Amino acid sequence: MTNIIKELQKLEYPELYQRTNDECMDLANHLLRKMTLNEKIGQLFQLAPSNANIEGLAWQEKADVQQLIASGMAGSILSVAGAENTYQLQKIAVEQSRLGIPLFFGYDIIHGCSTGFPINLAMACSFDPELVEKACQAMAFESAHLGISLTFSPMVDLVRDPRWGRVMESNGEDPYLNTILAKAYVNGFQQHDLSSYNSVAACCKHFVAYGAVEGGREYNTVDMSERELRQYHLPGYKACIDAGVSSIMTSFNIYNGVPATANEFLLRDVLRNEWQFSGFTISDYTSSYEMLDHKTAANEKEVARQSILAGLDHEMVATTYIKYLQELITEGSVSESLIDEACLRILAFKYQVGLFDNPYKNIYHNSHEYQLLPSTRNLAREVASKSVVLLKNTDNTLPIATNKKIAVIGPFANSNQVVGAWGGLVKNESCITLVDGLRAQYATHEIVYATGCNINDNDRSGFADAIAVAKDADIIILAIGEEQYMSGEAKSRAYLNIPGVQNELAAQLKLLNKPLVTIVFAGRPLELEWYHKNSDAILMAWFLGSESGNALADIISGKVNPSAKLAMSFPYTVGQVPVYYNQYKTGRPSANGEYAEYRSCYIDVPNYPLYSFGHGLSYSNFVYSNLQISKALITGNETLEVTVQIENRSPIAGEEVVQLYIECKSFSVVRPVRELKAIRKVFLTAGETQQLTFILGKDDLAYYNIDMEFTPENSDYIIYVGGSSLAKLNTEFSYRT
Ligand code: BGC
Repeated sequence: MTNIIKELQKLEYPELYQRTNDECMDLANHLLRKMTLNEKIGQLFQLAPSNANIEGLAWQEKADVQQLIASGMAGSILSVAGAENTYQLQKIAVEQSRLGIPLFFGYDIIHGCSTGFPINLAMACSFDPELVEKACQAMAFESAHLGISLTFSPMVDLVRDPRWGRVMESNGEDPYLNTILAKAYVNGFQQHDLSSYNSVAACCKHFVAYGAVEGGREYNTVDMSERELRQYHLPGYKACIDAGVSSIMTSFNIYNGVPATANEFLLRDVLRNEWQFSGFTISDYTSSYEMLDHKTAANEKEVARQSILAGLDHEMVATTYIKYLQELITEGSVSESLIDEACLRILAFKYQVGLFDNPYKNIYHNSHEYQLLPSTRNLAREVASKSVVLLKNTDNTLPIATNKKIAVIGPFANSNQVVGAWGGLVKNESCITLVDGLRAQYATHEIVYATGCNINDNDRSGFADAIAVAKDADIIILAIGEEQYMSGEAKSRAYLNIPGVQNELAAQLKLLNKPLVTIVFAGRPLELEWYHKNSDAILMAWFLGSESGNALADIISGKVNPSAKLAMSFPYTVGQVPVYYNQYKTGRPSANGEYAEYRSCYIDVPNYPLYSFGHGLSYSNFVYSNLQISKALITGNETLEVTVQIENRSPIAGEEVVQLYIECKSFSVVRPVRELKAIRKVFLTAGETQQLTFILGKDDLAYYNIDMEFTPENSDYIIYVGGSSLAKLNTEFSYRT
């Protein structure tokens, strides 16, 4: 046994004291008084041992990782997890640095730590904040026992452009869904108790508007009005702050011409002054350096000056703070009080998470005993099956009964490459393949498979074998899509097609004239028109993580009735992008979204997407009726009661996401054609009818008006209730202030 393991075995885990913000600030203030300027600056640096370019530091030419920590020049560590690694680094901080200030460890636990949960866009399709909160608790549990103190999640960037690879990390296109899920993430990770041994601190990102990069091209320009920013892009962050998020990460993009990392309007005016955010801000990975390429700073010293003045507390990987802040203070261009302010926030955070009480709080010799537990896998399976969207299901093709021979064809048939980007420490080996999942639920001989082709090359040599296998079967399941790392950071695409020769394989299988079920694996909405026309059923599987195959088999066999709804619209073609349900009203609308002369539309494709936000089928048949309101007019603080009847007109029990949208008929500024205002997930047994009640009040009707006040106006409204953003059932009411 190594000495480190022996030391780890001696660690203790006493219950930690849960401190208020004020108590943490007092303690931080007390400590700050003992710190040298250099030590304070050191707290503002996040070191990534594997990636940091730490050579060439002006003040300490030959510093290496250990020396930096020992000299108190690093406040936190990026992307290091696991007991032995974190223990060794923490020990240096605690035992060798002058004041023994512990490090915190930040890691990207985005949709799974060891157990893979579905990618975030998939989880958003569950429309189920409670379930997402549970998934985050499970991720927190695993990561908190692997040395991690803070996760860089949730990403609450609102997205409308599937070309952008990071849509897979998002909650989709709707601001209401984004805010309720944002809150669920923060509560799930932090569990209202940062000192707990089972929670991790959350850092929401990327502040702000990163989801709106032009052309969906990664790291590109963002240019939008303050109205658009406030109405659509800020609410996700505000929801995180209201839920008590510990930290906020700045984005790579510019806002109003200024890089977000040194944007005083965002970091001081909005975050601190308006929202009174008391946590710390952190840059994105070397986003500080990018000011040099944006050409808004001529050198690194200027980067440091602009960033600290703007309100950036912690620098990730970039070293402009530790290199230049001292010099800037000596020459008088930065006041030491700014360093104190930033340092206090970092120290207060460390008190809050209990690192001063137990710097080894997240470090366990038996950390593996907390990973991939059966209960966590069961939860992952439930979340995965509730994230799969049934896009089409003609003549009840799904579920598939036993006693049928099923040919599973395609590159995802028996693949475990289904973690998806930003998979934390999740291994592909932990993932159940589709074939294995099916074989666990059908007789083994009923499931035959062939890969047919790869995901993204021109090799057709497997076609013949695939056709032969399919010929002999009663039904074909075609498992196709994008490779798991074709989405994620730095994975923008200009085409949204299914890559390689997969479409050709599909066309050849179609010729066999057998029932065809298509399952699409991808991190973004893709063009599926051919599949819509030629498949009998389509499942959007995204990337489902460790329990992928089991969850899909649950749906295919009918053990689970699909209930997910799209959190992002699927275009017919990339030429429609951005296409999203809550677009503004134009002055020349086309009545039905089809071509009409001199109207706002295309001559070659409809305005509407192939599958709209909120769309998702079930094996049950839900029928909505009897939409009623308590009053035709509400005023001031009065609320409106909206009731609707939903019937499960089928022999199959199922869950439905009931969605309530409003359309405002007049306002001082243009509003969207529809706005989601409430959702309710209900379970109905076969034949059951339920009456649901929603309450709407003035906050639900408020919008940034012509004077940029968030307020309702005297307006008439249409309410739509149903199972997607295309819901038809409607009624009208009026609001007067
Ligand atoms: C990403 C962030 C991530 C960070 C740390 C960056 O490249 O944009 O989302 O949290 O790296 O890994």
